[in-house]
Amino acid sequence: MDSIVSNLAIGLLNKSVADELSAIHQYMYFHLHLEDQGLGPLAQLFKQTAIIEMGHVETLAERILFLKGEVEMAPSTPVEKITDPAAMLAKAIEMEKASANDYNRAGQECGARADAGSKQIFEELVGDEEAHQGRFEKQLESIQRFGPAYLALQSFGNVDPSNPGA
Ligand SMILES: [Fe+2]
Ligand SMILES: [Fe+2]
Repeated sequence: MDSIVSNLAIGLLNKSVADELSAIHQYMYFHLHLEDQGLGPLAQLFKQTAIIEMGHVETLAERILFLKGEVEMAPSTPVEKITDPAAMLAKAIEMEKASANDYNRAGQECGARADAGSKQIFEELVGDEEAHQGRFEKQLESIQRFGPAYLALQSFGNVDPSNPGA
């Protein structure tokens, strides 16, 4: 692969690392506040998603190193201090949609320059981000259908019957 092609891919991959790091920070912020509000299941969904985004950072970073680039480990945007659960989900849906769009475009750019390895990574990430979007949308739809109490009731199902005081 010539250096113009690999430099373009390294730029796209590093931008994606930055967006993934922002998502990790944002989702951990949501996780902490949801735990604090006693909304365990939604808190767990954000934590689990943050862990998947960490895997994305690793995949992207490994490709950058393979292309002999440097990994810029800096988030692209600061954390937004959102504490309302429905607003958190709306923000997360917006972030996932933006990531899927960016990765679709990045995959096309890499494909057009005969960089199938980077293209394949971006395409795999599109699938993951769309799955995250779908899970967040499902939660938001349930809040809209059943009201905010849905989240609190969801927490009841999480109580361990053998240790109800936990
Ligand atoms: Fe991701
Ligand atoms: Fe995601």
